Amino acid sequence: MPFSDYRTALVTGASAGIGAAVVERLRREGIEVHALARSADALAALAARTGCIAHAMDVTDLAGITRLTGEVEFDILVNNAGVDRPRPFLKAEAEDIDLLVDVNLRAVLHLCRLVVPGMVSRDRGHVINISSIAAAYNFGGNSTYHATKAAISMLSRQLRIDAFGRRVRVTEICPGRVATDIFAHVHGDSPEIHERFIRGFELPEAMDIADAIAFAIAAPVAVNIGHMEITPTLQVPGGLSTARPDGA
Ligand SMILES: NC(=O)c1ccc[n+]([C@@H]2O[C@H](COP(=O)([O-])OP(=O)(O)OC[C@H]3O[C@@H](n4cnc5c(N)ncnc54)[C@H](OP(=O)(O)O)[C@@H]3O)[C@@H](O)[C@H]2O)c1
Repeated sequence: MPFSDYRTALVTGASAGIGAAVVERLRREGIEVHALARSADALAALAARTGCIAHAMDVTDLAGITRLTGEVEFDILVNNAGVDRPRPFLKAEAEDIDLLVDVNLRAVLHLCRLVVPGMVSRDRGHVINISSIAAAYNFGGNSTYHATKAAISMLSRQLRIDAFGRRVRVTEICPGRVATDIFAHVHGDSPEIHERFIRGFELPEAMDIADAIAFAIAAPVAVNIGHMEITPTLQVPGGLSTARPDGA
């Protein structure tokens, strides 16, 4: 059981949703969990409840994550922090593109750069990257989000090559819709948004994703679970549109 081989974890985006559930799940396994997000109060409450170590920090704070990863040897890295600014790409805002690239991609690249070499030299580690079904499928929404998540998908595969020959495992988790507050964070917290995305749907909960992550970590060390796509049973991605040039 590799949980007993691992002592420490870093979970980004830990103040809410999937990240908070992962913190709680890993703490149940006795892991020393470092929980990183910007919301100090939510992290303090999570720390009081689970015994995790809170780091109120923006994941794009390069000096901060460099300092933290220099202080602790992480056995498990869960790159979970993510944001979206849905808007047709033809109307994309410059600052939205920068935000999504900074949080969803640049921070993940830097954390992998800072953490994975230590895992390789210790011959022990597990990187969990949370992408999305948006990494693999095209559907209406936000092309920048799709692009950043697709990059995370390819990074996850490449890390396996970079760590080849060492017991460093990489798992990409591709959720479909999960019942978290992400829709309120992205679109604004209102009854209409709750009705549009959550109410009346049968959706995986954040803890279902955390349980899947725990399953991948608990697999025998000889087993690398590379990719898990987790959608609601009543959700299918994809589609095909064919337009006539005259728009008829
Ligand atoms: N829920 C879904 O349906 C779904 C589907 C597919 C993929 N995902 C992916 O799953 C991951 C988690 O989503 P979720 O549903 O749990 O979202 P959420 O409820 O909105 O939580 C997002 C977390 O990311 C943190 N975060 C955002 N910007 C940050 C920053 N600059 N620095 C540090 N932390 C930051 C937030 O904390 P602070 O605001 O306190 O910083 C929060 O803890 C994301 O990568 C998302 O893209 C979610």
